[in-house]
Amino acid sequence: MEDERAVLGGRKRIDAHLTKREKYIRQFAQRFLSLEGIGVLIMDSEFRIVEISEVICSIFGCKRTDIMEQSVEKWFDSLSLHPKPFDRSLLEGGVFRNRVLNWKRDANNYKLMLDGGVLQHNEAITGAFVLFQDVSHFMSLEEQVRRSDRLKTIGQIAAGTAHEIRNPLTAMKGFMQLLEKSLSERGMSKEQDYVGIMLSEIERVNDLVSEFLLLSKPKEIKRAPIRIGHVLQEIMPMIRNEALLHKVTVLYHPKSELSAILADKEQLKQVFLNLGKNAIEAMTGGGTLIISERHYPHEPDKIAVDISDTGPGIAPDALEKVFDPFFTTKPQGTGLGLSICQRIVHDLGGNIEVASDETGTKFTVWIPYASE
Ligand SMILES: Nc1ncnc2c1ncn2[C@@H]1O[C@H](COP(=O)(O)OP(=O)(O)OP(=O)(O)O)[C@@H](O)[C@H]1O
Ligand SMILES: [Mg+2]
Repeated sequence: MEDERAVLGGRKRIDAHLTKREKYIRQFAQRFLSLEGIGVLIMDSEFRIVEISEVICSIFGCKRTDIMEQSVEKWFDSLSLHPKPFDRSLLEGGVFRNRVLNWKRDANNYKLMLDGGVLQHNEAITGAFVLFQDVSHFMSLEEQVRRSDRLKTIGQIAAGTAHEIRNPLTAMKGFMQLLEKSLSERGMSKEQDYVGIMLSEIERVNDLVSEFLLLSKPKEIKRAPIRIGHVLQEIMPMIRNEALLHKVTVLYHPKSELSAILADKEQLKQVFLNLGKNAIEAMTGGGTLIISERHYPHEPDKIAVDISDTGPGIAPDALEKVFDPFFTTKPQGTGLGLSICQRIVHDLGGNIEVASDETGTKFTVWIPYASE
């Protein structure tokens, strides 16, 4: 007690000696260290950690008190960070700006931007600091804009071509039906079967063309206030049926009290069907598909729907491409499913996120609530 009073008294005395400017700088430094958007790491001249903000500790999953006074190299080793984002050359003036560090922890992929500088006293370098900025969100926005531009171009080309493909298809279908009729009149059942196959193949091309058209710009969108739960409930029988065929268990967690969104029901069904179908197709040896509606307090204006599977996950290099039109790893896939989902959700002012590791994949669809 006695000691504590002495220390407090000592601190007061030190504070009393500070100029107004120094007091404000000290308060700013304390506040800066607790900022959420930017992390600070301060090192001494021996490259040991003198101070580290909580935000860095939470990104890297370490305990602040465990790593204080530890050498930075040892900390990097404990995280298995290779290559190391920076080294002791920083203390010799090797300052850097906008250095990108990719970091993955659990199912989260972080993109961090690092700035490093030195601390000096009377011209001598006494230590160094590194600022960590989490730019994962900005990067994904930039990525989304790039993708949606490409989608637009493809959409325009598709719209122009689709019409021209449909016309000859309609003619082919008509003549094929006539042929089928006349073959049946002559009792040529084998040939009739062939024509039947050709007709169903034409239907497949037709479906594909329709998907192209939707990609270009859906006509006749009927937006109305709807509850996401109703949309999910309507597609659940289809999802359960598909799941049964693939030995997949479906768990659905509705949340009835969530507000309505403004969207076209049929389009939304398509989004969740595509995501559900992908999840089921990924679990070749069976597994569990979980669909849940959520409201996250950090995104008060949006509803989130998570579609998680226990499949093998998506390889890191493929993860960047899954929303690209025509990217597929399936022999029968068109690679259009996810780009269509993204187009629909973007048009609603929402977005789709994906997180994946070897234990499974989670797609999260964010959609803004309808304004009152
Ligand atoms: N839940 C998932 N788990 C693993 N991989 C996935 C998952 N969802 C998508 N993918 C990967 O993303 C690719 C693109 O998906 P997308 O839905 O766009 O096309 P597709 O499923 O291949 O074809 P289509 O939708 O026409 O059947 C898939 O081929 C697959 O490699
Ligand atoms: Mg698909």
